Amino acid sequence: MTSDASLLGLRGLDRAAITSILDRADALLPAVAGAPVADAGSRVSAVVGLVFLEDSTRTRCSFETAVHRLGHRPVVLSGRGSSASKGESLRDTAANLAAMGLDALVVRCSQAGGPRIVREATGLPVVNAGDGRHEHPTQGLLDLSTLRSRLGSLEGRRILIVGDVLNSRVARSNLHGLSTLGAQIVLVGPPSLVPWRLADLAPNIVVSHDLDAVLETADAVMMLRIQRERDAGRAVAADYRQAFGMTTARAATLPDGVPILHPGPVNRGVELDDGVLDDPTRSLVLDQVRRGVSIRMAVLERALAAAGGSS
Ligand code: CP
Repeated sequence: MTSDASLLGLRGLDRAAITSILDRADALLPAVAGAPVADAGSRVSAVVGLVFLEDSTRTRCSFETAVHRLGHRPVVLSGRGSSASKGESLRDTAANLAAMGLDALVVRCSQAGGPRIVREATGLPVVNAGDGRHEHPTQGLLDLSTLRSRLGSLEGRRILIVGDVLNSRVARSNLHGLSTLGAQIVLVGPPSLVPWRLADLAPNIVVSHDLDAVLETADAVMMLRIQRERDAGRAVAADYRQAFGMTTARAATLPDGVPILHPGPVNRGVELDDGVLDDPTRSLVLDQVRRGVSIRMAVLERALAAAGGSS
């Protein structure tokens, strides 16, 4: 996190900063269901720009909900229907929004590093909502929040991240965050999607190409979507589900209490069987979504407080 409390990635964010956001998000969790915001202090209402140049359901709607729950107002801009479709650059788009007096920007784009460009072009606090294959830090934080709520301390816990790691910004944010909190990370998938070199991305990572060999060692399993929009489909064999999917039969071999996560959207019958995704004793997928709102409230509060006292 930069001194202005922009959140461009989890890489480089220290344990104290991550823990502070997770703790604040826990305190804000009742507000997701409409309870008054805890310790709101005196708020100055802000206008937050949500610039979503790539498609989104969970991230965009939960940022928008978070803005409303904090008592602020969102301005939402999508790729389709905006002048981005006429070729206007991300930098120019952001500069124009800043000229309208917006207080902070949330940015999703296909360009890795796009949120940093926006930060430099506008001077506003910027939250990265997913940039290319780079990072998706609020997804990483909501995953940490969900894991912490189930497992307690993540120190020494063994977390499997399974699937299309190569193309996943979710995986990148998670491995930085998990590593910083002391977890052991096992990246699992076919060599085409989980090459050995990914073990060098952060401390405490090992790579495996055999899911069944490592499953019984897991404290939690995070499944990833095949990123077909980033060409991952070509790298996936026909027997992917059999080798790396969380089938009903495979889930039954997991020790009791080992939770399964997925950032969504899920390719049902590929990464997760219906019976696994819809099993409330195993699947934390909807708890991840719920915690996404409180995490985004905590991140926006921090960004806006640094921008001028409007938390
Ligand atoms: N997890 C996630 O980023 O989902 P969306 O693409 O729907 O926002």
